[in-house]
Amino acid sequence: MVRLGAVNFALGGSELNMRHPSIIDRMKKTPSAPSLAAVTGTPKPSIKGKKVNKAWLHDHINDPYVKLAAREGYRARAAYKLKEIDEVFGLVKPGQLVVDLGCTPGAWSQYLRRRMSPQGAAAGDLNGTIIGLDLLAMEPIEGVHFIQGDFREADVLAQLERSLAGRKADLVVSDMAPNLSGISSADAARIEHLVELAIEFAQNHMKAEGALVAKVFHGGSYNDVVQHFKAAFHTIKPYKPKASRDRSSETFLVGLGLK
Ligand SMILES: C[S@@+](CC[C@H](N)C(=O)[O-])C[C@H]1O[C@@H](n2cnc3c(N)ncnc32)[C@H](O)[C@@H]1O
Repeated sequence: MVRLGAVNFALGGSELNMRHPSIIDRMKKTPSAPSLAAVTGTPKPSIKGKKVNKAWLHDHINDPYVKLAAREGYRARAAYKLKEIDEVFGLVKPGQLVVDLGCTPGAWSQYLRRRMSPQGAAAGDLNGTIIGLDLLAMEPIEGVHFIQGDFREADVLAQLERSLAGRKADLVVSDMAPNLSGISSADAARIEHLVELAIEFAQNHMKAEGALVAKVFHGGSYNDVVQHFKAAFHTIKPYKPKASRDRSSETFLVGLGLK
C-alpha cells in the first residue's frame, strides 16, 4: 500500500495546485502497475551500472536514428517518432496551430516547424503557429512560441490559454514523460495524470476534427489511459513508431475527432 502523502509527493505537486486531485482517490485503489524497468525499458538492476551505461552508450552511438538526427540537424532522435506518426496518419499541415506538450529539447517542434515551412526549412517563413511547453528550458527555435512551466499547474495552463488567444488548435502532441520515482503505482498514476490533462486540454482547446498524439506506456495505467481516450475521441489508434526502441514500453495513442 502506498501512503497518500508519498503519492502526492511523487505526483509532483501539492493538492492545491493539482488540476486533477481525483487521481489521489484512484490511487487508493492501488492499481496494478508496471515496474520501473517495464515503464522505462531500463535493463534490470542486476546488471552492474557501468555495464548498463556502456551498453546504452554503445547502442546510442550505433543507433541509426541518432546518426540521422545529427545529419539532419534534429536535437533528438525523437523527431523521427513524430515524423513516422505524421506520415502514417497525415496529421501535420501548413497553416495549422499545433501545441507541443513536453517539447524540450525541441526535436518535435523542429519537425513541426519544417513541415509547416514553405520549403521544409528550419528557419525563415513559417506557415502556421507552434506553441511548445515544457518544465525545462528550451533553446529557441525560430517561430516557435515557448512557455516554460509545469503543465499540471493552473497558472501554466492559463499562460498557454493566453497564447492561444481564443484560437483552437488543429493538433496537440504530447511527448511528456514524468520523472519516475521507482514507486510503480505512483509512477503509473503520474503517467496517467499527464495524459488525462492532455486529453482535457484537447477537449477544451482543440477543433472537433483535430487530433491528439500522446506518449503512453504499456503496463499499469495503459488500459485506463485507453479508456480515457475512448471517452474523448471517435477513433483511437495505438502506434509504436520504429524509432521508439523495442525495449521501451513507450508507445503512442492517436485520438482522431473529439466526441
Ligand atoms: C521525452 S522528453 C520530450 C522530447 C521532445 N518531444 C523532443 O522531441 O525533443 C519529455 C519532456 O516532458 C517534459 N515534461 C514532463 N512532465 C512535464 C510537465 N508536468 N509539464 C511540462 N513538461 C513536462 C520533460 O521536462 C521533458 O522535457
